[in-house]
Amino acid sequence: MSEISYSYIVEYLRALHTAPSSPVLAEIETQIAMETETWPIIRPEVADFMGVQLSLIKPSTILEIGTAVGYSSILMSGYLQEGGKITTLERFPYMLGKARENIKRANLEDTIEIIEGDAADTLRTLPDEHYDVVFMDCAKGQYINFLPECIRVLKPGGLLITDNVLHKGSVAKSRYLIDRRQRTTHSRLRDFLWTIMHSEELVSTVMPLGDGVALSYKIGGNKNA
Ligand SMILES: C[S@@+](CC[C@H](N)C(=O)[O-])C[C@H]1O[C@@H](n2cnc3c(N)ncnc32)[C@H](O)[C@@H]1O
Repeated sequence: MSEISYSYIVEYLRALHTAPSSPVLAEIETQIAMETETWPIIRPEVADFMGVQLSLIKPSTILEIGTAVGYSSILMSGYLQEGGKITTLERFPYMLGKARENIKRANLEDTIEIIEGDAADTLRTLPDEHYDVVFMDCAKGQYINFLPECIRVLKPGGLLITDNVLHKGSVAKSRYLIDRRQRTTHSRLRDFLWTIMHSEELVSTVMPLGDGVALSYKIGGNKNA
């Protein structure tokens, strides 16, 4: 088994993945594939899945929590409506430098705004019901803490996409089988998944894709009764 799926299935899905048309994205993918860099970016099968979701939604406003080197921001910008904007939150100076460089090289400085700082602080400064899509891809132990803010800033009818929610499958295992150092993350992720699946504000599903992806639709707006 590789991560949460059989390795031969993961390898097959990755072989189907088409290299992105953006030279900056292709370059980041190549550097990771050649192991010259170990930047944390979304897995190819998750990138493809997000492409479908974003094509359906046609968002004007996207919030990302966890920029890293800007890979997913640049990727998502390809699915924005004309004049659409992405706000992305990052706290680690090394990542901030790389992301700024990549966004500049991709000519997306007017489309992607990076907000520097811990999302625990910066999320609070963002407006209510402003985003069509929130993509949460930061420290997994914080997901449960950030969830109320994600719901607050999402438009009714908007979509929260959360990555890495199965944490290499460990979340589905009994806590007694988990290394002591990982138990806090394990219980926080379980709390997060239980909450999104039982929230009266959300309709959610958890998919065993990549490292586990949760989709949560915020009830309300024109798109549902
Ligand atoms: C998995 S990486 C993001 C990958 C990126 N979304 C992509 O696919 O290209 C997670 C990033 O979240 C950042 N991060 C983690 N916790 C954070 C927090 N509380 N506030 C802001 N950034 C955070 C980390 O520094 C790291 O760069």
